[in-house]
Amino acid sequence: MRQKIVAGNWKMNKTLDEGLELIKAVLDKAEKPKGAVVFATPFIHLKDAAKLLKVRRGFHLAAQNCHHEEKGAYTGEVSADMLVSVGAEFVLIGHSERRQYFKETNAQLAQKVNLSLSRNLRPIFCCGEPLAVREEGRHVAYVAKQLKASLFHLSEQQFRQIVLAYEPIWAIGTGRTATSAQTQDMHASIRTLIAKKYGTQVADDTTILYGGSANAQNAVELFSQPDVDGGLIGGASLKPDDFVAIINAL
Ligand code: PGA
Repeated sequence: MRQKIVAGNWKMNKTLDEGLELIKAVLDKAEKPKGAVVFATPFIHLKDAAKLLKVRRGFHLAAQNCHHEEKGAYTGEVSADMLVSVGAEFVLIGHSERRQYFKETNAQLAQKVNLSLSRNLRPIFCCGEPLAVREEGRHVAYVAKQLKASLFHLSEQQFRQIVLAYEPIWAIGTGRTATSAQTQDMHASIRTLIAKKYGTQVADDTTILYGGSANAQNAVELFSQPDVDGGLIGGASLKPDDFVAIINAL
């Protein structure tokens, strides 16, 4: 089922106390969201955040990453099972910062997707092109390659668990948001690609979020596009008033 979602990606921000205060402030200010609200917190916040969120319907918890192997000698890493054990329901997979700084490959991302799904942890799978690719007009093909390489081995039933987030790299943290027309065009292309692989019903049911300098000012216009089902919000998710305004734009 296609869902409306606003997910906050805190990245590497907020101490434990600061993070819990942020969640409390959002819970206080957000009345009845028209869709699901997801907090993608750092690992160490998850367990305490889960306690705050479980009493409020419609609010969910995500991790920002998980390792691609089940368990073992991977010092410093966190497994999908561990995330589930502390209450995470979603996990971000393939964020451009993970791809860029941690050299995560499409093949590893496919492994992370498989492992997460096997644990009922829903992937929020990120895709998006760098500026040079956009300027050469190759953005649709670039994103199609990312999706095919990491997701199109899934069965229809598995694919239905995926939430997609289109995040053009040139828009992330830069204050340079994609226009609503650019966003709509890409989301529609992604839906067409999914339709070719899984059929129009699955394509229509897939939730596709936009991410990249989305904020309280531009969220209404972005979310009003027919193929945009919400947002993955970085910087603006760290400020309760801004995040709540974005939630209210759903
Ligand atoms: P931004 O980040 O909203 O700060 O651009 C979005 C993201 O990286 O998910």
